[in-house]
Amino acid sequence: MVGLTETVLRDGHQSLIATRMRTRDMLPAAERLDAIGYRSIEVWGGATFDVCLRFLHEDPWERLRELKRRMPRTPLQMLLRGQNLVGYRHYPDDVVRAFVDEAARTGIDIFRVFDALNDPRNMETALRAVKRAGARAQGTICYTSSPVHTLDAFVALGKRLAELEADELCVKDMAGMMPPGDGAALVRALRKEVGLPVVVHTHSASGLSTLTCLAAADAGAEAVDGALSPFAGGASQPPTETLVGAMRGSPVDPKLDLGALAELAAYFRGVLDRYRSLLEIRSLQTDPGILTHQIPGGMLSNLLSQLREQSAIERLAEVLDEVPRVRADLGYPPLVTPTSQIVGIQAVLNVLGGGRYRQVTNEVRDYVRGLYGAPPGPLDPGLVARVTSGAAAITVRPADLLPPELDKAAAELRALVPAADTAEVLSYAVFPLVYRSYRRSVDLGLTPDVLTAAALGVVGALRQPRAAPATGPGSVASSTSGPASAWALEGRVRLQTQRRWVDAAHGHPRR
Ligand code: CO
Repeated sequence: MVGLTETVLRDGHQSLIATRMRTRDMLPAAERLDAIGYRSIEVWGGATFDVCLRFLHEDPWERLRELKRRMPRTPLQMLLRGQNLVGYRHYPDDVVRAFVDEAARTGIDIFRVFDALNDPRNMETALRAVKRAGARAQGTICYTSSPVHTLDAFVALGKRLAELEADELCVKDMAGMMPPGDGAALVRALRKEVGLPVVVHTHSASGLSTLTCLAAADAGAEAVDGALSPFAGGASQPPTETLVGAMRGSPVDPKLDLGALAELAAYFRGVLDRYRSLLEIRSLQTDPGILTHQIPGGMLSNLLSQLREQSAIERLAEVLDEVPRVRADLGYPPLVTPTSQIVGIQAVLNVLGGGRYRQVTNEVRDYVRGLYGAPPGPLDPGLVARVTSGAAAITVRPADLLPPELDKAAAELRALVPAADTAEVLSYAVFPLVYRSYRRSVDLGLTPDVLTAAALGVVGALRQPRAAPATGPGSVASSTSGPASAWALEGRVRLQTQRRWVDAAHGHPRR
């Protein structure tokens, strides 16, 4: 029997509607979700934290508390970006430990911890904190395809994660490019060589995911990830009901009630209707292109919007040829946030900037110096010479260069909000600027309901006395009006946060 992890409350809506599902659309389904018998339900982490504060004006901790209250039975799961937590830069160890502690205390039972470069040093502090908090630590292997990503290399990483006391392993196919045969072989090898339970996370982009999940289950996977059908397919996970239906009666039958799942699907179909304007047809379609060019869908849309902004869309073919070359020069990083942006932006510069590496981004410089972690394969020596001009690379764990930040964050926030609790301090420590503007909206009475009403043009809501001072068209429109394209907006947000990463990185190791 294989377990199922339900992603509709996290990756499902992150992948299809830019993470915009509100807590109030989740809560009515929580008790029924809890009764299904899932192995776990993913409810937190990834982009949900950022989007809650930045766009929904919701407290992510409050969401978790409310969900936990209604789902006491099923283990709740989160996606944690290793040393990056739920943000886009490395945080110092004191922030990582406190964040994991508070998340476990508030209701997370299983932490899926990954690093974009598969560098175990970037997962170490988080994994140890999860263990100390008494929660379940899922050490993650980001799947990608390259000359250095061999079965042996993945197994070696699995062994290292086991040494770091991971309770189980996750194979994370974030680009949706893992063929069933590779998935099965990887599960079998990890089971045999490492011995820990293995769970498999895929995305449906190329159309392979359902097949890959079946093959992984047959090969002995402990669990696979699915999303209830309204939030499944395309950029999201394979549909939960399809997985259950496909395995019914087989030795791996997850034994979940298809009727109960259908009722939940009907509920979430209604939810999706409320977010229809955020749904792009392309994110629902099957795109096997990744099987040839290996560029994940999210990265492709970012490249398209970059080229459009520079009126250079006709250079797309050249950029698509350049991406694998830059990736090779950088030692074949898996293409996932933030490496997909680092590679993509540099590839565009190499094509439009009058020659390869004539201009080099700060991110590429930092990457080459080792500030993101150890690249999977060797860097191109010519690029290293050009970028570092003789300066020594960083060989220590990047977070070793970061001084503690938690006390400073607590002091700063409590100067503004004297009664701030640990959870609020952590929100501030992770996203200080976003949290400040979130607090301002909350203090002005700009609750999600008021904002939604305002965005819908309900004049009465705008006249509520407490909301009045800040409901000028600018403030409301800038925070809630639906973007013309959710993906384009997400691309811009990523670029912005990427820049902040750079600022932050420069603030610490370099001074
Ligand atoms: Co995912």
